[in-house]
Amino acid sequence: MNSDAERLAARIADASLAVHDVLTIYLGERLGLYDALAAGGPATADDLAGRTGTHPRYVREWLEHQAAAGILGCEDPAAPAERRRFLLPPAAAEVLTERESLLWSAARPRSLVALAQKLPALLEAFRTGEGIPDGTDDARTAQADLGRAAFLRLLATEWLPRIADVDGRLRSEPPARVLDVGCGAGWASIALARGYPLVRVDGLDFDPLSVGTARANADAHGVGARVAFHAADAASPDLPGGYDLVVAFESLHDMPRPVEALAAMRRLVAPAGTVLVVEEKVGEAFTLPASPNDRLNYGWSVLTCLPSAMCGPGAAGTGTLLRRETLLRYAREAGFSSIEDAGVPHDAWTFWRVTS
Ligand SMILES: C[S@@+](CC[C@H](N)C(=O)[O-])C[C@H]1O[C@@H](n2cnc3c(N)ncnc32)[C@H](O)[C@@H]1O
Repeated sequence: MNSDAERLAARIADASLAVHDVLTIYLGERLGLYDALAAGGPATADDLAGRTGTHPRYVREWLEHQAAAGILGCEDPAAPAERRRFLLPPAAAEVLTERESLLWSAARPRSLVALAQKLPALLEAFRTGEGIPDGTDDARTAQADLGRAAFLRLLATEWLPRIADVDGRLRSEPPARVLDVGCGAGWASIALARGYPLVRVDGLDFDPLSVGTARANADAHGVGARVAFHAADAASPDLPGGYDLVVAFESLHDMPRPVEALAAMRRLVAPAGTVLVVEEKVGEAFTLPASPNDRLNYGWSVLTCLPSAMCGPGAAGTGTLLRRETLLRYAREAGFSSIEDAGVPHDAWTFWRVTS
């Protein structure tokens, strides 16, 4: 391969192949095909269709594709098509069916399909400059599922313990009060309540469907009595204030009015309390070649986060890459004086402490 044009053409061909993996994994996840293989063991197309209420001819093609792609195994490739038995190898079982594993990745293809579902609206938005509110079921559930295992397993054991004063306050009497801004399906709030048995948490999100899901999730995890969820705009929440910790996980950059949201956080935090804004770990400035994180986040930004942050009059249009300088400007406009990296080791996020 000699020319740049050949290399780019080959790259697009490779990416297209990878998209086939993404889209067929989406089918397998949504139709319960991987779960049925994990639960019931190796299967022919007829077996798997019977277990999942699907059509055997479609399932056969999917099974053969998944084996060709090296995701599933096949016990007897030379057997007649209807007798070939396919299996889910242990690594694929972990990555595609074990929701508690940090390697569980089935929500990732779902999140990409949700982006594709938005493309017709995005074509229009590029022409009009209007925003696109988040909204499909796939977008909502994928966002929630992407962070779920890490919040439940790491938030109170690895991440917040690195911020000693915050961790200490959450463990001490009188019970600390925490506000989770842009809480989505509530997994951070639930992880806080589970990991810190004294605390009381309020989660707020302006999406009522997410708030309903968050309440159900909190009840299912046995913390419903200490966690309350509110459907409200972060820019104008009607909450009493005095919180020991106000935290916003990956939500500020999505908000059309981030300065108003930060000003509300400043009003709501107690004088000795802490505001943490957790955002994507991105470079200080636009540079080329871009880091892998910047490249990834530009993709999210074009396809979903910027359209969210373009909704409504005067929208800030932040985009996923909320760089230090922009966050500092927003914080100062909201009445804070500075921001500092709180030093939590994380591949993808920076935990910013926002101070007055
Ligand atoms: C990327 S999601 C993050 C959700 C959750 N914090 C997590 O980490 O899984 C951003 C969330 O911010 C919420 N959000 C966006 N703008 C908001 C606003 N103005 N007020 C309240 N919530 C908002 C969205 O509904 C969405 O649930």
